[in-house]
Amino acid sequence: MLRGEFGEGTQKAMELLVAIGEAFDAERMIPVTRAHAASSGQEGDLYFVEMLAKGGAFCRIPTTTNPIADFEYFQRIINIADEHEEASVAWKTKNYYTQIEAIMSQSCIPYLAENIPEYGEHVAFSESSATPYVNSVLGALTNRESIQTALAAGVIGKTPEYGLHLKENRKGTILVKVEANLKDGYSYSLLGQYVGKNIGYGIPVFLGISKRPTIDQYIDLCAMMNVTGAIPMFHIPGFTVEAKTVEEAFSRDVPEDKIAVTDFELRQTEAELQTATGDIDIVILGCPHYNLDQMAEVARLLKGRKIRRDVSFWVNTSATTKILAERAGYGRPIEEAGAHVIVDTCIDMFCWNNLRGKTGMTDSPKCAYYRRFGPVRVASVAECVAASVEKDA
Ligand code: F3S
Repeated sequence: MLRGEFGEGTQKAMELLVAIGEAFDAERMIPVTRAHAASSGQEGDLYFVEMLAKGGAFCRIPTTTNPIADFEYFQRIINIADEHEEASVAWKTKNYYTQIEAIMSQSCIPYLAENIPEYGEHVAFSESSATPYVNSVLGALTNRESIQTALAAGVIGKTPEYGLHLKENRKGTILVKVEANLKDGYSYSLLGQYVGKNIGYGIPVFLGISKRPTIDQYIDLCAMMNVTGAIPMFHIPGFTVEAKTVEEAFSRDVPEDKIAVTDFELRQTEAELQTATGDIDIVILGCPHYNLDQMAEVARLLKGRKIRRDVSFWVNTSATTKILAERAGYGRPIEEAGAHVIVDTCIDMFCWNNLRGKTGMTDSPKCAYYRRFGPVRVASVAECVAASVEKDA
């Protein structure tokens, strides 16, 4: 492959993996059985996938993709032709991923449906929530990949053996004492925001979480730790799969070095996120993509309500989740309230450019961080709904 005998695209993918392996002193390449490329539909993404596809490369193992955009939906409701250049880059990127035989899941939660690694499986997953989720909650083994290294691993079916592919590197590095009241996904987002910012890079071990987090709480924690920090994995002894006790999580004496998180830190973190108060023009939910439980929750909150005419309300999810939500009856109350359910799309895409300068509201600190609109309020989903529906007569 490195000599080019399998084509130029495969050769380029192998060159990248060999260079990474050399940089990290890996001793050998090991097989990986699935990959997730956090495709962005932006220039850097296009450059690499185009080079591989034009060189005849194809995915030798199942390789899913991140959201790019639901072009057809946006074309129906706003004129995305005004954003011609960015749309064209995204469109080309999508076509090259199809050509290279990636699975066009276009979801940032592929580990729930389209691409689920098993315990002990070596994989190559990029995407902020995906890497810590598959390492910590599922017990698969992946490094914190980039779009390009994950795609290269998808093409080759191998990755250099270093970092989190080695058991000895998967132990905790810092203790996080949680004394805050973690009542919903939103509070886990705030916890993730605080921990990522204060640790930077490392493997936190959480102490004090007494109730098993729900799937969306895990996802929110994972996503936010990798917005403000670089956290490839974490342990919640007794709940995540690789450590039953704090001692096991560290595999040595529990370090004295620790951070504590109380309600005060969460409130302070929340306050730092707010750049708007008062009236809003737009609500964006689903960053990361909403899962089925979250679709049920927003349907329950919107049932029988109407979104105000001066507010546009968007719920981002995966195509798979949308189908299941419709079958479960969650789609109708959301759409009858006047909200859009949008699939395949990331909040960091050109499709939202027409919202620039508008005041937004979201339950996702990550969305607030990458916002394509103007000032933003961040609050729980219930508060987002309350701020955008008509008052009861
Ligand atoms: Fe998903 Fe994009 Fe947010 S990939 S997590 S919707 S920034």
